[in-house]
Amino acid sequence: MDFKEIISEIIFQALNNTEISKEEIKNYIEIPKEEEKGDYAFPCFRLAKILKQAPNMIADNLKEKIVNSNNANATSNEINGNQSIIEKVESISGYLNFFVSKAKIVENAIDKFNKQKEDYGKLDLGEGKTILVEYSSPNIAKPFHIGHLKTTIIGNSLKNIYKNCGFKTISLNHLGDYGTQFAKLIEGYKRWGKEYDLSENPIDKLSEIYKRINELCEEDEKVLEECRETFKKLEEGDEYCVNLWNEFKDLSMKEFERIYDLLNVKFDSYNGESFYSDKMQEVIDILNKNGKLTDSQGAKVVDLEDVGIKAPCIIQKANGSSIYATRDLAAILYRARTYDFDKCIYVVGEEQNLHFKQIFAVAKYLDLDEKYTNGLIHVSYGMIMLPEGKMSTRKGNFVKVEDLLDEAISKSKEIMQEKNVEDKEKVAKQVGIGAVIFEDLKESRIKNQVFDLAEALNFNGETGPYIQYMTVRTKSVLEKAEFNPNDVNINVNILTDDDSIRLIKLIEKFDKIIINSMEKNEPSILARYSIDVASAYSSFYNENKIISDDKESQNARCYLTYMTKVTLINALKLLGIEVPDKM
Ligand code: ARG
Repeated sequence: MDFKEIISEIIFQALNNTEISKEEIKNYIEIPKEEEKGDYAFPCFRLAKILKQAPNMIADNLKEKIVNSNNANATSNEINGNQSIIEKVESISGYLNFFVSKAKIVENAIDKFNKQKEDYGKLDLGEGKTILVEYSSPNIAKPFHIGHLKTTIIGNSLKNIYKNCGFKTISLNHLGDYGTQFAKLIEGYKRWGKEYDLSENPIDKLSEIYKRINELCEEDEKVLEECRETFKKLEEGDEYCVNLWNEFKDLSMKEFERIYDLLNVKFDSYNGESFYSDKMQEVIDILNKNGKLTDSQGAKVVDLEDVGIKAPCIIQKANGSSIYATRDLAAILYRARTYDFDKCIYVVGEEQNLHFKQIFAVAKYLDLDEKYTNGLIHVSYGMIMLPEGKMSTRKGNFVKVEDLLDEAISKSKEIMQEKNVEDKEKVAKQVGIGAVIFEDLKESRIKNQVFDLAEALNFNGETGPYIQYMTVRTKSVLEKAEFNPNDVNINVNILTDDDSIRLIKLIEKFDKIIINSMEKNEPSILARYSIDVASAYSSFYNENKIISDDKESQNARCYLTYMTKVTLINALKLLGIEVPDKM
């Protein structure tokens, strides 16, 4: 039952004016924030121009007409006796406020839920379309830092959301595995490799070697020259260089994989920058052919002033070597051809805003179909920092992400010690990781954030563990009641109190929330929603006796508990968070 549709029909009839369509009316209908303003509101200032009347007059008149013509009653149906769908219409300062029968709201939400049950929230609006989601993309032989953790978590959730909406999704990890830094590393390793045991914490050690060789390069121009030579060798496929590069890559990948395993994140492709190293000439050729390359102090650049970007995009350095942007452009060509994508989303921090503006602008000069160039989207996010103190000081400004995750798990293990939980290890992992994931998703992504682990693990805060805890509660209520989801004989009138209605209305809009998160590429919308559902359940639980001798009311309240459980589990799944059996 589409209440908005019914209300727009009522208004349309009462208005009896050809200048405004029912569709338009429907689009203007809002859901008021304050409950006392009803379930739906129609802002009459939208009609002021057509009717040449003040909005409050329009509202008053319309209300009269609706009440007198009994249009509200005309839409009643027989399901619940003679109860009408719209119980009351009010005119308040230019708004027409509609109060829907509570029993109808409940009935409607249950019907909607029952169509999908455990699949509640699954959508098919993306069928036939392909979305590429590129995220994580750490750099080989460099630490996986807390910013990489954020893209990993946001990207994984977006992939889940798109998939849930019926899109074919492909997850890409654009590894930073190319560039002169690898030549430096090889040169450093040649000199001091024997001093380091790479079988343990290899990234730390490679980072140190990198630091040392960089210092040496600064002191001694000759060493820098050697590094440049080595890069050339690497590009030409020199066996010694390529083997070492592969070894560094394998060692790094092992560390990254451990993090991905903990987070339960997977990729369909790990084609990193090096994969595109032999595909860049085509980019240069096309840009050349299209007259887009100009010389700037020996380098080749694309001027972007025309499209409002002051900084030109450098395509080739003066010494002939390619750069980051060129590899990204080659990747766009490759992805368009390989995947025929409808959208290609890059989850990368805001410090690369200019880079993506530039490459998306240059991509328009690559003779690609507009479908592809219009589908390129940079999903950017703000800075993420650790609070001062223990976690942030370990070597420079970053902490190892693996240490952070381990710490989250061990802290949650401490909490579990006090609880009567069977598989403490497993639950501690689910809760610790869930806490970190939720913390990274709960704010709108563009906001700068201080990552506070203690806060993330607070069972009473707006946190992952809080939602997990409420979800577990729904499970235990249903277990205790020996609930049978097939028993759908529900007296909806039992669920018309304020707390039940609030919860039901939230559950009813799950699909809209998912679509909104998807359209804005904003998992935080879904994260906030999960908090709202969990806390609405908590109020419902506190205010209503669920398990009781009155089987009719037990049945209805259990059914709402079941709807809550499925909604929360499915929402958390989209965020990438598991739900323990007990906690
Ligand atoms: N490796 C880069 C970094 O760590 C991120 C890569 C982003 N993706 C891209 N297609 N440029 O900063």
